[in-house]
Amino acid sequence: MFDYRLVAVCPHTGARAGELVTPHGVIETPVFMPVGTQATVKAMTPEELVELGAQIILSNTYHLYLRPGADLVAEAGGLHRFMRWQGPILTDSGGFQVFSLSALRQISDEGVTFRSHRDGSSHFMTPELSVAVQEKLGGDIAMCFDECVPWPTTAEEADRAVSRTTAWARRCLEAHGREDQALFAIVQGSVFEPLRLRSASELIELDFPGYAIGGLSVGESHDAMYRILDVLNPVLPRHKPRYLMGVGFPTNLVEGIARGVDMFDCVLPSRNGRNGTLFTSSGRMNIKGSRFERDFGPLDEACDCYVCRNYSRAYVRHLHRSGEILGARLCTWHNLHFLVHLVRKARKAIIDGSFPDFRRRFLEHFMEGAY
Ligand code: GUN
Ligand code: ZN
Repeated sequence: MFDYRLVAVCPHTGARAGELVTPHGVIETPVFMPVGTQATVKAMTPEELVELGAQIILSNTYHLYLRPGADLVAEAGGLHRFMRWQGPILTDSGGFQVFSLSALRQISDEGVTFRSHRDGSSHFMTPELSVAVQEKLGGDIAMCFDECVPWPTTAEEADRAVSRTTAWARRCLEAHGREDQALFAIVQGSVFEPLRLRSASELIELDFPGYAIGGLSVGESHDAMYRILDVLNPVLPRHKPRYLMGVGFPTNLVEGIARGVDMFDCVLPSRNGRNGTLFTSSGRMNIKGSRFERDFGPLDEACDCYVCRNYSRAYVRHLHRSGEILGARLCTWHNLHFLVHLVRKARKAIIDGSFPDFRRRFLEHFMEGAY
C-alpha cells in the first residue's frame, strides 16, 4: 500500500524527484503540504485545495485529540470522510504542539503531562496514546511522538531529547498496527551534528518507511538549518521519503530540495495570507500598502492561480482594509498555490536536468524583489 520510487536525481545537488504511493493516491515529490490543523485548511474547501494543486494535507493530533476527540472523528468514518478530503493526509503526532502550545508541561520518560491551551484541562500524552489517536484519525501517514527541544539549547539537553525520541519511536512502532497507515520517525538533535547523526542512525536501525527532520526552523539561522540538512542528506536512506517539518519559507523550500528533502509543511502561507502578506515571484509584499490603491494588475504577474487570473491588487487591498473574509481567502489561496507550484516547478526542473539553473534564477528574483 506504500511505496517510494525515485524518478530522477539531480547530478549536481542532492535534489530528488520521486513518487510516494499511499492508500489515497500517488504523491509526486518534492511536495508542499498545506496545514489543516483543525481538520480544515483555514479558509479553503477541499475542492479549492484540489484546484490549486494540493496533493496531500497535514493535520494535528494535539488539536483533534482535544477537540472534537479522536472517537468522534472515527465515528464519522475517519478524517478523510469527516472533512471531505479524498487525497492523502499526514497527521503530526503532537510532539511539537505539546511543547509549543500547551501550558505547564511535565516531561518524563513515560510521556508528557500538559494542560490544554484552550480550557486548562490536564492530559497525559504518551507515544502509545499518540499512535492510538492517529490510528483513529486514520491519516495515510502518522508521525512518531517525539521530543522537540526549543532553540537555543545545550548539547546535554539535546542529547537527552535524542535518547528519549529514539525510545519513544520504538514504543510508537510497537504500538502501531494499522497496515493502511505508514509511521514515519522524526530525527532530532538540534543544531549539533553528532547528535543528528546519532538520532538518524538509531532511527534508521528501526527501519521506518519514512524519515522526518524535526526541531528545525525554531529560531536557528538558515545556515545552521542548511548545515544539518547537509549532514543528514548522505545518511538518510536513499529509497525512503524525507520530510522537513514546519519549513515553508520559499527560499528554505528550494534550499531544502537541493539538500534532498522530499516533503514540507508550514502554516506560513495560510497565516500570512490572512493578514495580507503575499509570496510573489519577486519576494514578499503586503497587499495593504498604499502603493496598491490604484493597482489594477494581478497580485503576481508571474502567477496563474485563480486569484491572479481574476482579481486585482486594488480590490484585494480593499477587501483587507475593510476586514472582509474574502480578502483572507483570496490571499490564502494565492499563497498556497505559490508554494505548491514552486515545489512542483522544482520537481520538473529536477526531472529535465535544469534544477541548478532553476535554483539560481529563483533565488535571484526572490531576493532581489523582497520588499
Ligand atoms: N513540526 C515542526 N517541527 C516539528 C518537530 O520537531 N516535531 C514534530 N512532531 N512536529 C514538528
Ligand atoms: Zn496567484
